[in-house]
Amino acid sequence: MPFPANDIKSFVKAGYPVLYLVSWEEERVENKLRVIGKELYGDSFKFYTWSCTDGLVTYEEGGVEETRDVCRALDRVISINEEAFFLFKDLSFFINEPQTIRRLKDIQRTQRGASKTLFVLSSSLNLPGELENLVPVVDIDLPDADEIGDVFDSVVNQYVKEDVFSSITPEFRERCIRALLGLGTAEIELALKRVLIGIEELDEDRVIELLLEEKAQFIRKSGTLEFVRMRISLDSIGGLDNLKEWLKIRSLAFSPDAKEFGLDVPKGVLIMGISGCGKSLCAKAIATVWGLPLLRLDLNQVYSGSFGTPEEAFRKAIKTVEAVAPCVLWIDEIEAGITRSGEKTGDSPTSRIFGYFLTWMQEKDKMVFIAATANQIDLLPPELLRKGRFDEIFFVSLPSREERKEIFRIHLAKRGKNPDLFDLDSLAKNTEGLSGAEIEQAVVSALFESFSKQKELDDRDLIIAASTIVPLSTTMREEISKLERWAANRAVRASK
Ligand SMILES: Nc1ncnc2c1ncn2[C@@H]1O[C@H](COP(=O)(O)OP(=O)(O)OP(=O)(O)O)[C@@H](O)[C@H]1O
Ligand SMILES: [Mg+2]
Repeated sequence: MPFPANDIKSFVKAGYPVLYLVSWEEERVENKLRVIGKELYGDSFKFYTWSCTDGLVTYEEGGVEETRDVCRALDRVISINEEAFFLFKDLSFFINEPQTIRRLKDIQRTQRGASKTLFVLSSSLNLPGELENLVPVVDIDLPDADEIGDVFDSVVNQYVKEDVFSSITPEFRERCIRALLGLGTAEIELALKRVLIGIEELDEDRVIELLLEEKAQFIRKSGTLEFVRMRISLDSIGGLDNLKEWLKIRSLAFSPDAKEFGLDVPKGVLIMGISGCGKSLCAKAIATVWGLPLLRLDLNQVYSGSFGTPEEAFRKAIKTVEAVAPCVLWIDEIEAGITRSGEKTGDSPTSRIFGYFLTWMQEKDKMVFIAATANQIDLLPPELLRKGRFDEIFFVSLPSREERKEIFRIHLAKRGKNPDLFDLDSLAKNTEGLSGAEIEQAVVSALFESFSKQKELDDRDLIIAASTIVPLSTTMREEISKLERWAANRAVRASK
């Protein structure tokens, strides 16, 4: 979505004295509002900002005396007689105080139609019930491709050397824009400057790589999301053929052709099952197979409170994800976010976020495919499992003998060993009950063993290593058979 300049203009024209803007991009909103104000009122228009440290300030005249106090500042809004915008940056911290509510109500009542607009800017929506019906809320999305294009052009025009500038093709510009989706304007500008300033020659792939790295860092800093760059091909997953086939059939489902053909955009899969059998691996592989960016949402961080209230952190994450769309959103161990120990259902942040999540999942029109994994099915509420929520629920079980063979093959090859030199049949036969992760562990420890003895790795090393592992399937027999029973008529087996 582009910046909602038209929405804002129409509220201003209709004479609404107070608007609430939700965005964490102060600079971008400020710049855009300046432009909107100029367009509406011409050069005589005044633009004030307010923060709790500087009070009311205009660019031309500096600070307005004694306006650090929020109530005084609001009084000034009433008494100033000019065509003006007032951008209040920190008002949301005071918005639940009775005096603030009263003043805002006064402004709303007395300033209707008076060529003045007060904007409350906040990264989260925190509007007291009393003001809800009086103050319209405008939700501001992250910059879309067009807006990123403008930033790109301006950085390139200002900072890139002549001969590099002339080698920039429209296709490369497009690639850069795509690489930057999901960031705020200030971050986009920083990333572009960091990568482009001073380059002597345009190595396109290198520039894209660096931009993606910058993006990964910015997204990580936001705390709840990770931009996962690791690519996992289906060849590095042993077995799970049903799931693989399902993914392959849908690999073009996000293309414009698919839409024209009448296909619904896939919504998501839930992959549940036994620990260490490849759930997270598959979630990662989806993005690779479909050629989409992958974002991982860490629900524990969402609830930690370190990144604002859980609601705020969650909404912010969703905004980023939507800006990156089409993409895959990987939510590992989704049950962790839904039912947390010590919390009963009701009006807790977890249940509120879960409700919001379900609605979002149902209604999202952006191409965001959800790859969720779960280990503990009894914690999953029925609403999540209802038909239509996910396109499919897959159950990942312990690997069969044939699958274990493949997993040995993959992990031996990954470590530079020729799998054909091993008796994979007998290895598979001797490792019944081991998960993929445990087979990998056996390969790794056998390698250590043979290396310490300064000899080549052989079947015996592998069998011995495997036999020392106490598989989860033994220690958790009860839980696993419960999972199997649950999955029997509710989920599709990931393996053939
Ligand atoms: N089918 C498989 N093929 C190849 N490797 C596998 C397979 N299953 C598991 N592995 C190996 O085990 C590691 C752990 O697997 P993964 O993280 O996908 O398990 P998980 O099902 O998500 O487990 P958990 O529930 O503990 O998170 C993988 O990184 C991979 O190296
Ligand atoms: Mg996992």
